[in-house]
Amino acid sequence: METLGIDIGGSGIKGAPVDVARGELTQERLRIPTPIPSKPKAVAEVVAEIVAHFGWTGQVGVTFPGVVTDGVARTAANVDHEWIGTDARALFAGMTGLPTVVLNDADAAGVAEVAVGAARGEGGVVLMLTFGTGIGSALFVDGHLVPNTELGHLEIRGKEAEKRASDHAREEDELSWSKWAGRVEEYLRHVEALFSPSLIVIGGGVSKKADKFLPLVKVKTRVVPATLQNEAGIVGAAMAAALP
Ligand code: BGC
Repeated sequence: METLGIDIGGSGIKGAPVDVARGELTQERLRIPTPIPSKPKAVAEVVAEIVAHFGWTGQVGVTFPGVVTDGVARTAANVDHEWIGTDARALFAGMTGLPTVVLNDADAAGVAEVAVGAARGEGGVVLMLTFGTGIGSALFVDGHLVPNTELGHLEIRGKEAEKRASDHAREEDELSWSKWAGRVEEYLRHVEALFSPSLIVIGGGVSKKADKFLPLVKVKTRVVPATLQNEAGIVGAAMAAALP
């Protein structure tokens, strides 16, 4: 079965049809820069453009970088605040004319990693953390998602964790890999103290460079890089849309 997955990020909106059983894109993905400002209508127009590009007529799964309950965006840390309270599912469905599922971006990436990636077959408590503009989190218990955990906003040294340890913070503060790894380690120690996961999967664009920082991160929990990397959001969104 194929569904269309669309991943809304702070800088780009990416989409592709996905073979959901295999967790693989079936066509080359399309990436369109996120409109500035990233207001709901402008973003929905890009979603509709991606749907039209693939001539898509079936189910669509869309990620959103904030809390999503019942298709409604509840927070918007790294996108325009007009999103808060917007019925994203109704907006996208109205704009595309297609049945749409909307879920948090890190939750989608986690769904993909649990199904076909680095956390495949893992029972118990598994945590996926994505390091990008912010820090996203997806918590799984025996393969079941506990949605909207938002662990990037935990407070560390009086500051939101994502303001200190996201990949964006690494770039903005011009941190060396080892300095940044220290911040990531402190953050991971915090989450492992709270959840005692058996596995932590590190995702987001920076997971491509895992060899530069993961060996420097010393925690008790097993930590592995995501295997789907930049495609995890698209794949997980498509998988969510395929659920009955
Ligand atoms: C948002 C999360 C999101 C993460 C990664 C955070 O600022 O609150 O919902 O998953 O960024 O995009």
